[in-house]
Amino acid sequence: MKPQSEGISIIGPGRVGQALGKLLHEAGFPVLFVAARRRAPAQRAARFIGSGRPIGLDAPELTIAPVILLTTSDAALAPVARSLAPLRNDWSGRVVLHTSGSVPAAVLAPLKRRGAAIGSLHPYQTIPNPSTGVRNLVGGYWGIEGDPAARRVAARWVKALRGVPFPIRPEKKILYHASAFMVCPTLVTLMDQSTRFLALSGVPDRIARPMLARFVTETVKNFVELGGQTALTGPASRGDWQIIRRHLAALRRDFPGTVPLYQELLRAMLRLAGKHAPAGLTGTRRRSV
Ligand SMILES: NC(=O)c1ccc[n+]([C@@H]2O[C@H](COP(=O)([O-])OP(=O)(O)OC[C@H]3O[C@@H](n4cnc5c(N)ncnc54)[C@H](OP(=O)(O)O)[C@@H]3O)[C@@H](O)[C@H]2O)c1
Repeated sequence: MKPQSEGISIIGPGRVGQALGKLLHEAGFPVLFVAARRRAPAQRAARFIGSGRPIGLDAPELTIAPVILLTTSDAALAPVARSLAPLRNDWSGRVVLHTSGSVPAAVLAPLKRRGAAIGSLHPYQTIPNPSTGVRNLVGGYWGIEGDPAARRVAARWVKALRGVPFPIRPEKKILYHASAFMVCPTLVTLMDQSTRFLALSGVPDRIARPMLARFVTETVKNFVELGGQTALTGPASRGDWQIIRRHLAALRRDFPGTVPLYQELLRAMLRLAGKHAPAGLTGTRRRSV
């Protein structure tokens, strides 16, 4: 099998694989193969991407492409790398990349041992479905680590997508990933909780979500422009303990399960504001520092 001079094989094309595949294909990086465990998802993904021959994960042809992009779930990276490696004896000249933000490129070691350059490029973005990814991956931020040849390919892709590449320490990737966890799925969870408070307060559904969108967008803008401490508003930053007492009483009555969460957030907020709450409010015996 002769290697192509350019082209990509996408392995495990879920939400990120399909979105990135489509964007790369449209940016002039040909997608040659789309490989999945089952035929139907591979076909669907190739249709979405607009390019690539759907094949199985054990098809040696997929190694014709000089760049292999693994977009499987994090847990599948190690077993998939192990099963891909024997598809060719010599992987030199090949680059293998994955898109996980929590797992270092070293998970691809079986391929590196056979000569591949390995790396990862992680979009610091939330991609709930492939179409959203096509919209929001352009101009985004990408954490990159790995071997120089792999980082070069990743940087070329990011540049083509008008994105911002930045380095991450492989040994700290899980902390890097936790930074995304702190502000994305948590925010969705908090907003969902907030809509429950609003519903019981009588705010119509059709108002609640756009109202939260405007509120949260403004909050984010202020954080970016002013920094955490200055952007902080609300009773904790003002030291209005009466309001916090009344919040807690209302939550104990209507949403008792949320009290520990409220108090944990309050403690973090007080640390940011540099304020001390009266004993008892934060749910700890000691005064908050
Ligand atoms: N979604 C996001 O917001 C986001 C953002 C940044 C980075 N990422 C990272 O990007 C990667 C892909 O995420 P995703 O959200 O695109 O995941 P996803 O939509 O759940 O897709 C995962 C894909 O992995 C395949 N897969 C799972 N186990 C496999 C195995 N043992 N062998 C072969 N294929 C397997 C699945 O194929 P089947 O159809 O066969 O199950 C599916 O196509 C992950 O590393 C994730 O951490 C995701």
